[in-house]
Amino acid sequence: MRYPVIIALDPPGGEDPVSWSVRIIDSLQDEPAGYKIGLPLLVRSGPKGARDIASVMPTNTIKVADLKLADIGPVMVLTASTAVDAGYTHIIAHPFMGIEGGLDELIKYLRDVGAELILLASMSNPGAARYFDQFIDEFVVMGARLGVWGYVAPATRPHIIRRVREVLKKTPNPAAKIVSPGVGAQGQRPWAAIKAGADYEIVGRAVTRAEDPAEALERLYGRP
Ligand code: XMP
Repeated sequence: MRYPVIIALDPPGGEDPVSWSVRIIDSLQDEPAGYKIGLPLLVRSGPKGARDIASVMPTNTIKVADLKLADIGPVMVLTASTAVDAGYTHIIAHPFMGIEGGLDELIKYLRDVGAELILLASMSNPGAARYFDQFIDEFVVMGARLGVWGYVAPATRPHIIRRVREVLKKTPNPAAKIVSPGVGAQGQRPWAAIKAGADYEIVGRAVTRAEDPAEALERLYGRP
């Protein structure tokens, strides 16, 4: 891993999602720390396509399924298992459902299969400031109770990342990971989230829409 970056694979309409993703992974290999698929890819490629994509990701990379789960426990488990069975190791879920009958069942399942939970602490879109941001402290403490691997906090609003890191310091796992989307197409500069306390920056279009994704990644982050 040369860059603390997770590449978001969101295939544009009209592209075959599997060959588009494989081309990008071939270009980047294990230069980024990981790759992330989301619902646009999973819905269009189906579980078999998602599995074909995961199978070409280097073994030492984090494989995130950004499902943004928000349902009762058994249904989240059903959805998560589609991604886990396809080879994804980290699953993103919303916190608003709470623990009992929701996230407790999801994390139990993920533990049983050796996968990890990433909880949204807030989101990168400006509208998240109105609702999500009111509960950041509670969501971080909730994640600590559950023993999550990490949190999503927005690169677009570094003060939220700092807040998550500050609240984490008072929990049993202050080194829980923070992953931050919003670099490039959503306006934030590379490294801004890392400087604010994140472990990984999530980058999509600024790299994946470039003719040469490896060159775009190096142009954004510099030669390590
Ligand atoms: P771009 O192309 O904007 O892609 O670099 C960003 C990727 O990150 C996802 N995204 C989020 N995921 N919480 C998340 O869990 C967020 O607040 C958030 N904001 C953006 C987006 O779906 C895309 O894959």
